[in-house]
Amino acid sequence: MKEILWLNCSARGAASLSFQAGQKMIASLTRQSPGAHVNRRDLATDAIPFIDAAYTAHMYLDETAARDEPSLQVSEALIKELMRADILVVSTPMHNFTVPAPLKAWIDQVLRINRTFVRTPRGKEGLLTDKPSYILVSAGGGVLGEDAGQPDFLTPYLHAVLKTIGLTDVSFFYLEKMAGGAPPPQEVFDALQLEISERLSGQAELATARP
Ligand SMILES: Cc1cc2nc3c(=O)[nH]c(=O)nc-3n(C[C@H](O)[C@H](O)[C@H](O)COP(=O)(O)O)c2cc1C
Repeated sequence: MKEILWLNCSARGAASLSFQAGQKMIASLTRQSPGAHVNRRDLATDAIPFIDAAYTAHMYLDETAARDEPSLQVSEALIKELMRADILVVSTPMHNFTVPAPLKAWIDQVLRINRTFVRTPRGKEGLLTDKPSYILVSAGGGVLGEDAGQPDFLTPYLHAVLKTIGLTDVSFFYLEKMAGGAPPPQEVFDALQLEISERLSGQAELATARP
């Protein structure tokens, strides 16, 4: 049975546009893999603690050494949860050109040297087995194209974060120009649903064609 880890990052509950985009992605993935188990983590309402002095003092410990270190227990649990998942889904708003603070708190607990990545002469190398990762972003302004009107630090940042731990099979989906957070017209979600269906079936065809 497939395990899907869904990191939901908006504080706006069911009204959140990125949450609704995430729901569409989850529905499509579970249609593709019937019986898949979805583990949803609501990062904005079930907040992950910020790293503290004890964490920074012990973060170099590997898995065995970390077992008895209290300051690494949240990090260990989140890393194991991510490792167990076959698929990662992140639904997130853009906040101040990048990821919201609750997602950054998760990142700080999960990117741990000697545990999820190592430093090599070639740079940082990830220790996780790659898995499909789907990122659904909702932004008030533009994100894509020359006329976005603002910098997008979220996309390159999340690419770099996930690559650091070994996740390179990453697909982004955007709801942009959603200013005000009001429910968008139905057509926006219909277009997103179509894009999700087309890109997922394209990936499935590619996987089948692979020798
Ligand atoms: C604190 C805060 C910062 C924001 N910063 C940006 C931003 O930099 N760029 C942008 O396009 N939208 C920004 N927005 C708007 C949200 O990205 C937008 O309303 C989004 O659709 C919210 O997603 P949600 O409904 O999933 O919470 C910001 C909203 C908040 C509350």
